[in-house]
Amino acid sequence: MSVVERIEELKLEALSALAEAGTTKDLESVRVKYLGRSADLTEIKKSIRDLPQDERKAVGGSSNRATKEIEAALAERLAEVAVAEREEKLRAEAVDVTLPGAPYPKGSLHPSLRVIDEVVDFFVGLGYRVAEGPEVETDYYNFTALNIPPGHPARGMQDTFFLDDGLVLRTHTSPVQVRTMLSQEPPVYIVCPGRTYRRDSDPTHTPMFNQIEGLAVDKGLTLGDLKGTLAAMARHIFGEDVKVRLRPSYFQFVEPGVELDVSCFICGGSDPNCKVCKGAGWIEMLGAGMVDPAVLSEAGYDPEEYTGFAFGMGPDRMAMVRYGIPDLRLFFEGDLRFLQQF
Ligand code: PHE
Repeated sequence: MSVVERIEELKLEALSALAEAGTTKDLESVRVKYLGRSADLTEIKKSIRDLPQDERKAVGGSSNRATKEIEAALAERLAEVAVAEREEKLRAEAVDVTLPGAPYPKGSLHPSLRVIDEVVDFFVGLGYRVAEGPEVETDYYNFTALNIPPGHPARGMQDTFFLDDGLVLRTHTSPVQVRTMLSQEPPVYIVCPGRTYRRDSDPTHTPMFNQIEGLAVDKGLTLGDLKGTLAAMARHIFGEDVKVRLRPSYFQFVEPGVELDVSCFICGGSDPNCKVCKGAGWIEMLGAGMVDPAVLSEAGYDPEEYTGFAFGMGPDRMAMVRYGIPDLRLFFEGDLRFLQQF
């Protein structure tokens, strides 16, 4: 085989290798093999000067043409492969923005919190302010300032958790009314949601439970204002059709004291077997009354000038009634199967 034929053969080999190479890396190997420093074609070029004069021109010319042709084919293939590689990369890294997102585990509001939110929203809508106080209370705020002096038998009804140094876990949210009156001048319109504690545990009592206290002190407030305010609240929480009634009751810090019943919002009093009102037609809702003048005086307000009403309700109980939950203890066990129903 003549040198020129050999060059032709190498060129065809190189061109077909280029056609087959599918990646930039493969093309580079082909380049090294056919155009590199120790490639056969390179060797031939180096040996041209040793050839007889008459062959030099032919071999020189054909090796140069072969080199150019291979280089041109290489450049063309490199461009093609680069495009293909870019497309492949884009495809591999593509993000499908139409795929649905990973779902978030979503919680729900505790039934008590729903009622608390609704009650607080209602009073805030009337212009009441939200007030809070400590859950570890002094004996003074929890009892004495509320007209329950040391040794008074009314203290025994509260099933108090006593702590050291005259401290107690507050048995109701009423101490917040005293704290608020001591810290500001009348008029006062506050609503105080919070946790309260009593030594009690059965299907309708838990050692910790929620209360919402309300207090209004102003000039000329009457029992009529109390009833109207609470009736509006009951309609807001239980529906436009509910009626309310007051029954006489007793709490140390109010005079007169009342309990407020709401007409049964399930049966309206028409079903003797109603699970919610047990056929009574009425549901006990909350304790309330006109603030005892002794409590106003203790807080530095003049009972000749100001009157006020207070009320305290149990949002947990209200949620039990509203959602038909038979056991209050379920509220605080943290069982997801229970909580997920709301
Ligand atoms: N603090 C009382 C209780 O826990 C409820 C109440 C509040 C009654 C305000 C009257 C006025 O039982």
